[in-house]
Amino acid sequence: TRTPVNVTVTGAAGQIGYALLFRIASGHLLGADVPVNLRLLEIPQGLKAAEGTAMELDDCAFPLLRDITITDQPSVAFDGANVALLVGARPRTAGMERGDLLSANGGIFGPQGKAINDHAADDIKVLVVGNPANTNALIAQRNAPDVPAERFTAMTRLDHNRAVAQLAKKLGVTVNDIQRLTIWGNHSATQYPDIFQALVNGKNAAEAVNDEAWLADTFIPTVAKRGAAIIEARGASSAASAANAAIDHVYTWVNGTAEGDWTSMGIVSDGSYGVEPGIISSFPVTTKDGEFEIVQGLEISDFSRARIDASVAELVEERDAVQALGLI
Ligand code: NAI
Repeated sequence: TRTPVNVTVTGAAGQIGYALLFRIASGHLLGADVPVNLRLLEIPQGLKAAEGTAMELDDCAFPLLRDITITDQPSVAFDGANVALLVGARPRTAGMERGDLLSANGGIFGPQGKAINDHAADDIKVLVVGNPANTNALIAQRNAPDVPAERFTAMTRLDHNRAVAQLAKKLGVTVNDIQRLTIWGNHSATQYPDIFQALVNGKNAAEAVNDEAWLADTFIPTVAKRGAAIIEARGASSAASAANAAIDHVYTWVNGTAEGDWTSMGIVSDGSYGVEPGIISSFPVTTKDGEFEIVQGLEISDFSRARIDASVAELVEERDAVQALGLI
């Protein structure tokens, strides 16, 4: 029998946590033959609700679930962690300035990064979901100097999945017919969903769409503003789809992208495609054996260039702001 993998989830009592934990425990995060221990990190006010969720996890009698630890101590939650899903974050409240938002999150992701540095397993893989995800991931990464920088990633898979679904709908095909779509930049309204490299049943998707106005005025804003549309419709932010994307992100990272396809992940830039080195930006990546590589050599049109640059400029601003606040 295999040794269980330690999976830490922060914000475990939140709505994404509730949608996420049952799928981790049922084998969707790592594979149907991989046992897991769950480590749930919450703030003191969230502990009781996390205990309730743990009771329900027990009640599922999941064959792969070993033990569950519930704590408000990062050093305990990240002890021996192999995979960490950083979901809990400080949301923007009415009247909150951006600097306040970044400092509040720095107060969460700085100490969590340090706890990962000091306590996690050597093979730790981190996915940051809590917003502002890219910059929170950067804060955590910079506070974990002993962990290879590429182990810190930010989630743009929900944007990726949203873009695939919108494109499939437009072309009257299924999501299975679409490959090589890319989300570039920040998980924010400036993100750029790129279909110029994408394939639909093996043919170029942009040519199949053949409608630049739809791309600029419908597709890109629909994907970029989907989070707001969900809040408007549901009265609460995306939870099950966000949890699903977190599952997809880690599953793909660990188990690999399909031959000929790629995915989108927020990762530390090495300067590829002119993206400022060191920031955490979304790129097209292939994954294999738990490692990823940025897809190289893609031709970037002027249409794409302007949009990638705008989103990267926002990330550079966020980095400069957290640097000025002394958070990195
Ligand atoms: P929620 O408010 O329902 O849950 C957040 C939970 O985090 C709460 O239980 C809270 O007690 C906990 N928490 C706060 N600070 C913590 C800390 N320092 N340590 C541990 N736990 C802490 O929020 P929800 O809906 O679950 O969303 C979580 C985050 O995910 C938000 O920041 C949201 O903006 C973000 N998000 C990101 C998406 C992406 O595509 N990257 C998509 C959807 C949401």
